[in-house]
Amino acid sequence: MPCVHGDRVLVLLFLFSLAAGCVARQAPDARPMQAIDLADGSVYSLTASAVTQTMAGKPETLYAYNGMLPGPLLKVRQGSRVSIDFRNSLPYDTTVHWHGVRVAHAFDGVPGVTQEPVKPGETFRYELSFPDEGIYWYHPHLREDRQQELGLYGAILVEPRDPVYYNPVDREEVLFLDDLLLEPGGMAGFNEDQATHALMGRYGNTLFVNWQNNYRLKAGKGQTLRFYLVNAANARPFHFTVEGHPLKLVGLDSGKPEREALVEGVVLGPSERAIVELALEKAGSFKLLNATPDASYTLGVLEVEAASAPTPATDFSSPHANPVLQSSLAPFKALLDQQPDLELELDVEMQGMDMTPHALGGAPEPIEWEEGRMAAMNSASTPENTKWILRDRKTGKENMDVRFEARAGSIQKIRIHNLATSAHPMQHPLHLHGNRFLVASVDGKPNDNLAWKDSVLVPAGSTVDLLVDFSNPGQWMLHCHIPEHLESGMMALLEVRP
Ligand code: C2O
Ligand code: CU
Repeated sequence: MPCVHGDRVLVLLFLFSLAAGCVARQAPDARPMQAIDLADGSVYSLTASAVTQTMAGKPETLYAYNGMLPGPLLKVRQGSRVSIDFRNSLPYDTTVHWHGVRVAHAFDGVPGVTQEPVKPGETFRYELSFPDEGIYWYHPHLREDRQQELGLYGAILVEPRDPVYYNPVDREEVLFLDDLLLEPGGMAGFNEDQATHALMGRYGNTLFVNWQNNYRLKAGKGQTLRFYLVNAANARPFHFTVEGHPLKLVGLDSGKPEREALVEGVVLGPSERAIVELALEKAGSFKLLNATPDASYTLGVLEVEAASAPTPATDFSSPHANPVLQSSLAPFKALLDQQPDLELELDVEMQGMDMTPHALGGAPEPIEWEEGRMAAMNSASTPENTKWILRDRKTGKENMDVRFEARAGSIQKIRIHNLATSAHPMQHPLHLHGNRFLVASVDGKPNDNLAWKDSVLVPAGSTVDLLVDFSNPGQWMLHCHIPEHLESGMMALLEVRP
């Protein structure tokens, strides 16, 4: 039967060429972030998959939501509901967490707590509602040290119910601040089985905005801009400034503070957000900077062209107060001085690593802006030799053994001591899921400009008081947002009873 045999050879050849094509085909090029307007009641499909993106001149395989880096910017109205049909086209298990959004517990995206991991090829429908204005973001809640680092994140802009909530501006932009660790041969690898850089978190050496190495924004003289800033880095804190321009701070994680404030820059720990406005009064090129005490890094450039409106549309130099928030905070202000209901200490235990910087004398640096001279030790550290700790000061219980219950509708104070005497004192960006809080005080100094937040950067050696609005029933994670610290145990579950 020579003829049948010949057919088989042809079929085999055909299959072989298909397979070869698959192997050779690289992931499609990433597209830039696009805004997607989601009306109340709409259903949106979101797929996580591999993409190719050139970083510092070399194509890298990254992961993206709907092929975009950053992922689609979801624009929703405060008070609306939206369904997200999520599909996992990654080679790994994943979930989606809607960072800062007070969602129903079942849709919080925490594997083993609110849902099972979404396996490769599987889908999960998230039913979301958006009670609060502000800027939020979404990212995986499984091996974030790799998945979020490689591009899986996008922003959610919740437009306020009040149409004149913000000042009028000519333009709004979402800016994700991030970094990536590039080696001469390409991106530094990841361990399949566990996180690395457990000690300090993965600091990148290439800083960028919205996944663009040379971020450029063109605007006209006389315009005013509003930036929604999100720190999406694993470990790096940013001090964001715009050369030659004061910033007007008009929002934090969940909308306005009690008063707008003119500032020279804003410090953002990983996962924190800030909303700032700027008035473009002169033409020219101005750098967007990460200005740290030791070095300034250019994140991008703002190009202001001469021909446009002659004066900024708003009276930029007179910051407004926010009387609606001020009066709604009255019941919370009455409790600002109450004793803490829970006191947590931030600490670390390391095996086989003899390093106690505090023992060498002097107070720790409040913020490690860089990985610095500990890079080698950091990259070798894993959850096996490094344990990061949230410890209940009263009971001595740690991490998932901490027991804390609050009634929905109650206001409780959580005091966090970031121990200066730990084996490696450093800042920790703590995040509470599903509920919001006020930063009541830092080192005993009351905060005189309160705002709703879900994430707070606690400097080394500092004590921070949070006044929590426990409003949302369920078991909610409180954890460090440095994913390598989370992988090394730094999390607790707080229970809110209905
Ligand atoms: Cu942004 Cu538990 O996460
Ligand atoms: Cu941490």
